[in-house]
Amino acid sequence: MVPEGGRGSKVVELPVQCYTHPRMTRYYFIDTMGCQMNERDSETVAGIVEQLGYRPTDDRDQADFIALNTCAVRAKPQHKLFSKLGELRRIKEQRPHTIIAVLGCVAQVAAQEIAQRAPYVDIIIGPRNYSHLTRAITAAQARADNNPVIVTDTAEVIPEELPAARIAPISSYVNVTYGCNNFCAYCIVPYARGRQQSRAPEQIVSEVEQAVATGRQEVTLLGQNVNSYGEDLPAGCDFADLLTELNRVAGLKRIRFTTSHPKDLSLKLLDAMAELPKVCEHLHLPIQSGDDQVLERMGRGYTYEHYRRLIEAARERMPQVSITADVMVGFPGETEAQFGNTLRAFREIRFDQAFMFKYSDRPGTRAAQMESKVPEKVKQQRLEQLIACQNEIGHQINKELVGATLEVLVEGRDAKSPEKVRGRTGTNKIVIFPGGSDLQGQIVEVKAKQAFLWGFLGEAVGEAWDQSIGSNAY
Ligand code: SAH
Ligand code: SF4
Ligand code: F3S
Repeated sequence: MVPEGGRGSKVVELPVQCYTHPRMTRYYFIDTMGCQMNERDSETVAGIVEQLGYRPTDDRDQADFIALNTCAVRAKPQHKLFSKLGELRRIKEQRPHTIIAVLGCVAQVAAQEIAQRAPYVDIIIGPRNYSHLTRAITAAQARADNNPVIVTDTAEVIPEELPAARIAPISSYVNVTYGCNNFCAYCIVPYARGRQQSRAPEQIVSEVEQAVATGRQEVTLLGQNVNSYGEDLPAGCDFADLLTELNRVAGLKRIRFTTSHPKDLSLKLLDAMAELPKVCEHLHLPIQSGDDQVLERMGRGYTYEHYRRLIEAARERMPQVSITADVMVGFPGETEAQFGNTLRAFREIRFDQAFMFKYSDRPGTRAAQMESKVPEKVKQQRLEQLIACQNEIGHQINKELVGATLEVLVEGRDAKSPEKVRGRTGTNKIVIFPGGSDLQGQIVEVKAKQAFLWGFLGEAVGEAWDQSIGSNAY
């Protein structure tokens, strides 16, 4: 159901109404699962409910509006939603006025299941429909039956004028595209987030300027496939052109982006990364498999050789570039020899870091219909083997950097040891070193003392410095 007013109509901001205690402060709590897109979307949702007068709380039991922003990419995170919903039943029984909203990718692909299994959920909204949230809340406050307000329209064009309550003080996520057109055989994302919609470059530049104006030093540009940015825009602006524009934003120190797709990654983009001083030398380029037949059945649109050449081209232009990837083991029909090709690819390429997954059936995708599913036990063994291989390589790469001076943008105090601060290199490695919170937002030269899989413990080598970064910084 689309709440009253229908799709595309203007969102009317209503003051928050508490029927029982009209003058009491109302609180919201958002639990975000999944990827950076969901994190960015949760900021939009927070912005919307703050406009309605809600205030944030860390205490879920105190909240009057509880949102679960969900992920459907594998079966496990989807199950997590249902166990969390079970916990919310008690809250709804004790505080019946609490509005419970399920947002994000599971809301989109499993709305009816959520409504059936958790009838106390008030609102179910897919990731393209947050412009309807205000009216959905109003409708939910008035609802007298067991039917939640459901808004799941993946064809919707996401409007520009939604607010956002930003969380991270130093870095901001900025969407460049929504949705995905690729329909890789295993993937639920195009069903959850709809077709690709590129934002106009002026809107992106304006959001980045706004981020800088409110104290952010770094932006991470988000898209399922940033390399196809602009294909759906009338004027010719590709992702490399967009980076060139953003590199001009005064006061911005670093530009990151994710995710790149090997079938669309251009040499023009690699040149732009190498030439533009603010663009970080980190490439997240999911490989998914090192075997051509598996890649073909996944519908990825590249071969391993193509992938390897892209990495070579990146390293030729940026000797210090860090390369990270996503990969999956146990895709339907994957043989031991095909898995062996993935292992070999990992040894050849030597990723700085990899996000490694067991293939998980997603209802409605092509891969879910495929035969020769790999048994769970075999998937687990392959995953463990790949993790062991990657851990050794990743740790070794970091060990080779011990003694080097790293340029670290300080994000804030380290949660575990408050006398230390924590930040990241341009190559996206975490560095923790002694320092005070006055360093937050500064780029500091830090000597790497000890290497771990996750990054480094280090020590500042000089005064904090704050100039623009040289293109060879790492
Ligand atoms: N747009 C990005 C990936 C988004 S999903 C890209 O094209 O690479 C993030 C990662 O989850 C994917 O790269 C893939 O490795 C993993 N993934 C997606 N669907 C999966 C599935 N059905 N089972 C296991 N892993 C999956
Ligand atoms: Fe999924 Fe493929 Fe799109 Fe990435 S490119 S979101 S893996 S369909
Ligand atoms: Fe992200 Fe999960 Fe959706 S990875 S796009 S939140 S399915």
